[in-house]
Amino acid sequence: MSAKTTVVTDELDRYLHTMFTAEDEIMQKVLENAERKGLPKIHISGNQARFMQFLLKAMNAKYVLEIGSLAGYSAISMARALPENGKLVAVELNPEYAQIIKENAEIAGVSSKIEVICDDGRNFVENCKFDYELDFVFVDADKPGYYIYLNKLTSFIRKGGIFAADNAFAFGYVLDSAPERDPNEVKSIKNFNEKFLSNENYFVTLVPIGDGLIMGIKK
Ligand SMILES: C[S@@+](CC[C@H](N)C(=O)[O-])C[C@H]1O[C@@H](n2cnc3c(N)ncnc32)[C@H](O)[C@@H]1O
Repeated sequence: MSAKTTVVTDELDRYLHTMFTAEDEIMQKVLENAERKGLPKIHISGNQARFMQFLLKAMNAKYVLEIGSLAGYSAISMARALPENGKLVAVELNPEYAQIIKENAEIAGVSSKIEVICDDGRNFVENCKFDYELDFVFVDADKPGYYIYLNKLTSFIRKGGIFAADNAFAFGYVLDSAPERDPNEVKSIKNFNEKFLSNENYFVTLVPIGDGLIMGIKK
């Protein structure tokens, strides 16, 4: 046992990435297509994708919402962990990216499970309606919007469902008082972490995977 989290060295990261990853040939094709189209490589890691698949399977998730989807790497990974009649709604601001998500969903054979909505997440949550309860929400978009997403989406999440947000470590700068990296973004992540932790609707934890995955189970 250990009272401290073991630092994930590059070697351990390679081990995780080789052994415990969601990245198979299909996801390689998804990444290759994104690269050909010149998209930035800012998707979640393969082992984080596998961890999220694990959560979805453990909770028998059927309905997932993602805000901030880029080329669809995380969305497609999650869709692959859902049952055949499961559904994932991917909300992406950039129309070019939204088109690539659709292409990638085809490549991965999950287009029947994924609905891509090209919209600003903030606008989407103002007007959204679902005819089902959400099992899992993953936000990985504009960081200052995280608390808005949490507040607007909580009523749509089932009891026992999860709201998860990426980059809870703010690329390692979350504890810096004057971070070099976009101070406003870092500040908003720090504020979000604190407010989410004390939100009475959720039991919250932060998992040190990728850049930190903060998530809460709805009570
Ligand atoms: C870090 S990337 C998402 C990576 C993706 N989750 C993955 O792991 O494959 C962030 C994405 O959020 C999108 N985005 C930024 N602001 C947004 C907003 N207000 N609403 C919706 N999407 C937004 C960006 O266009 C970008 O594609």
